[in-house]
Amino acid sequence: MVQASESDILTIGGVLNDSARPLKERFRALFTLKNIGGAMAIDQIHACFKDPSALLKHELAYCLGQMRDPTAISILTSVLEDLSQEPMVRHEAGEALGAIGESSVIPLLEKYCKDPIPEVAETCELALNRLRWLESNSNAKDLQKNPYLTIDPAPPAEITDVKVLRDILLDESKSLFDRYRAMFSLRNLNTRESILALAEGLKTGSALFKHEVAFVLGQLQDEASIPGLQASLEDTKENEMVRHECAEALGSIATPECYEILNRYLNDSKRVVHESCVIALDMCDYENSTEFQYADTLAKLSTV
Ligand SMILES: [Fe+2]
Ligand SMILES: [Fe+2]
Repeated sequence: MVQASESDILTIGGVLNDSARPLKERFRALFTLKNIGGAMAIDQIHACFKDPSALLKHELAYCLGQMRDPTAISILTSVLEDLSQEPMVRHEAGEALGAIGESSVIPLLEKYCKDPIPEVAETCELALNRLRWLESNSNAKDLQKNPYLTIDPAPPAEITDVKVLRDILLDESKSLFDRYRAMFSLRNLNTRESILALAEGLKTGSALFKHEVAFVLGQLQDEASIPGLQASLEDTKENEMVRHECAEALGSIATPECYEILNRYLNDSKRVVHESCVIALDMCDYENSTEFQYADTLAKLSTV
């Protein structure tokens, strides 16, 4: 956790909640609050759910999940239950409830496993599976750790054979939880072969599945996945949640080719896609800079 005074937290929350500020600054403020943690930071994040940007709101929910603070359960519950929130935002609230890891949300997730929106229903099913897995594998702490320090929606499979993992990943008759477990195991292997197997996943399965593959490819930051990510971003018939995650993955790979692709979609007709390109280009700038951290609003407080 990062040390910050109450007035610092309010100032950073002010950046996050100021719709007149550039979106990229508001994202950096959000990740700064996530790193600071605690009730005040959570309050500042909570206040932002009234914003019109689905992209920003889904990231609020993501960060609340990654903070793993049970204080956020009531906030995330109301976001999941609020049918006026965009599917992508409700999805991330469901996933965050799974990430926090408290069994008390099991009845709520059981209810939303039947949501008419597939992304929401599938997310709640995964979150339920994760919580049940945690209940029966409380001593499998090592399996939950990963080199990327994220709380993933499923633990990695214990299998390490890429061909076997690839087959599970692409097998639509397998449960989503098992396919996710294969996905995270392939990510943790981080070989050229495992990355290419993951990239094949961009072409199979539900929007939720494909967006998670793109997210994982962003974590891996390997140029071998650029063609697949580019193809999905360029496919205007693809679900916007998938296109969004492809844009951000290209942002973390951050080669000159990624800049060029992202610049071309800055005016995409889908708000989530063009805003993702803005954030992704800021990620490219960060990756190509000597900046110490992306979540830098605390360090830059004298200039905000
Ligand atoms: Fe997501
Ligand atoms: Fe996302």
